[in-house]
Amino acid sequence: MQDKVFIFDTTLRDGEQSPGATMTHAEKLEIAAMLDEMGVDIIEAGFPIASIGDFEAVSEIAKNSKNSVICGLSRANFKDIDRCWEAVKHAARPRIHTFIGTSPLHRAIPNLDMDQMADRIHDTVTHARNLCDNVQWSPMDATRTEHDYLCRVVEIAIKAGATTINIPDTVGYTAPRESAALIRMLLERVPGADQIIFATHCHNDLGMATANSLAAVEAGARQIECTINGLGERAGNTALEEVVMALKVRNDIMPYATGIDSTKLMNISRKVATVSGFPVQFNKAIVGKNAFAHESGIHQDGMLKNAETFEIMRPADVGLSETSLVLGKHSGRAALRAKLKDLGFDLADNQLADVFVRFKALADRKKEVFDEDLLALMQDADTSAAYDTLQIKRLRVVCGTEGPQEAELTLSVDGVEHTVDATGDGPVDAAFNAVKAIFPHEARLQLYQVQAITEGTDAQATVSVRLEEEGKIATGQAADTDTVVASTRAYVNALNRLILRRQKTAPDHDVKSVSYRDAI
Ligand code: KIV
Ligand code: ZN
Repeated sequence: MQDKVFIFDTTLRDGEQSPGATMTHAEKLEIAAMLDEMGVDIIEAGFPIASIGDFEAVSEIAKNSKNSVICGLSRANFKDIDRCWEAVKHAARPRIHTFIGTSPLHRAIPNLDMDQMADRIHDTVTHARNLCDNVQWSPMDATRTEHDYLCRVVEIAIKAGATTINIPDTVGYTAPRESAALIRMLLERVPGADQIIFATHCHNDLGMATANSLAAVEAGARQIECTINGLGERAGNTALEEVVMALKVRNDIMPYATGIDSTKLMNISRKVATVSGFPVQFNKAIVGKNAFAHESGIHQDGMLKNAETFEIMRPADVGLSETSLVLGKHSGRAALRAKLKDLGFDLADNQLADVFVRFKALADRKKEVFDEDLLALMQDADTSAAYDTLQIKRLRVVCGTEGPQEAELTLSVDGVEHTVDATGDGPVDAAFNAVKAIFPHEARLQLYQVQAITEGTDAQATVSVRLEEEGKIATGQAADTDTVVASTRAYVNALNRLILRRQKTAPDHDVKSVSYRDAI
C-alpha cells in the first residue's frame, strides 16, 4: 500500500476568489458534483460569510455531497466560524477551515502582537472544534513567518483541536528545497505533529507551485491544496491536474497514491475554463490544447513508430478523445451525442434535445462543425442561464460605410422587457451603448477580445469581456458566427456576473472588517 496524498480542491473558493472568475450558483453545484465524482477528497466549497450567495452555494454543495469532505473557509473570529458551520454542517463529512495571517506583515493588519494572536488562534480553533470534529487551521503567509513563531502557533492549533494544519505559501515566494525543509522542521519540532495531517497550499507567482507542493509531500505533507487549471489569485494556485499526473506518471520516484480518476481531468478543465471565463493557455501542462499535439516532422515520425518516443502519458489517461469526426448539417442526434460524449459531455435526453437545436442552427450557418465549435456551443449553453438578471431577447444592428452605426436591442431585466435604439462608433459600440441605456452602470470595460475559433470566414468568434466596478471584476464570454452578437452576449454575461460579485460583502482575505472582540 502506498501512502495516500489527500487532494483538497479549492477551485470554488481560492479559484473563484480570483478577480473576474465569479461563478453562478448552478455552476458551483455542477463543478462540486464533478469534483466529488472524480475522487477529490476535500472540496473547499466557498467562504460562507462572504455573501448570501456563497453561503447558499456551500450549504447546497454540502447537502448534495456524496464522498468528498465539504469544507468552508472562515476568518479567525466566532461569527465567521459559526456561519461556516451553518453552511457545511449539512454534509455527511463537514470540515471547518479557519485561518489568520501569522507573518510580521500580516500580524500588523489586525494590529495584534504575537501573544494576542496566539490567544486568538487558541480561542478560534477551540471554538471551531467544539462545533465540528474535522477542523483545518492555516497560518496565512506561513512561508514568511518566523520559524519559532510558526512552531509555537502550530502547536497551539494542534492542542486546540485542529486535525489538519495547512502551510500556505500565500504569495508564491518559496522554492522546492525550502518548501520541503519547512514541513520537515514542523514535523520535527512541533509536539503532536505526527498526530495530524500537514497540507501544502502553494501559489504560483514564481511558477513553482507544483514543484513546491510535491517537495512538501516528499517531506511529509499528506494533503495538497490545488485548483483545476491552477485557477486562483494572481498567477493562480497549484494545478490539480499537474500534481495528480506527476504523482501518477512518476510514481517510480514519488510513490504516493491519490484517489483521483485522471480520465475526468480534461472534462473538468474545460468546464472550469468555461464558467470562470479564464481560458486554458495552449501549452498548459496536461490540459492545454497543445499538450498532446505533435506537429514537427521528426516528432510525428517518431510518434507513428512508437507513441512513447515523445509521449510520457497517453491522451486517454487524462480523458482526451482521439477521434477526429467532423459534424455538419446532415449529422443526426446520435452522431452529436457520440461526439459530445467523446468531448466529455454525457447529456440527458432533454439536454441533448436543446443542444441539438443549437447545433442545427450553427450547422446551417457553417459547413463543418469542429470540436472547437461544439465546445463553444456547450460553453454558451453554460453561460446563458435562464435565471440571469439580464437576458438578450432581440438584437438588430445596422452598419455600413456611413456612420454612426445603429443597434436596436430588446433586453429583459429581471423579467421585464425594454427596447431601445442606440448609436455608436461601430456596431459593437452601438450594441454596448444600447445595453447601457437599458441597464445603466458604472462598470469600466477592462478587456474586449475577439478570437476566431476555427479557420474560414464562417468561423465562430469567441469574445471575452472583462468589466471592473469599484475593484470588483467580472468576465463574460460568448461565441457566435456573428461577432457583434457574440460581443453583446459576452458583455451581458459579464454584467450578470458583476451583479453576483456585487453581493459579496466580505473582502477576500480581509481580517479587519469583522472586529474580533465584537465577534467573540
Ligand atoms: O493563500 C492563502 O494563504 C489562502 C489561505 C486562506 C489558506 O488561501
Ligand atoms: Zn490561497
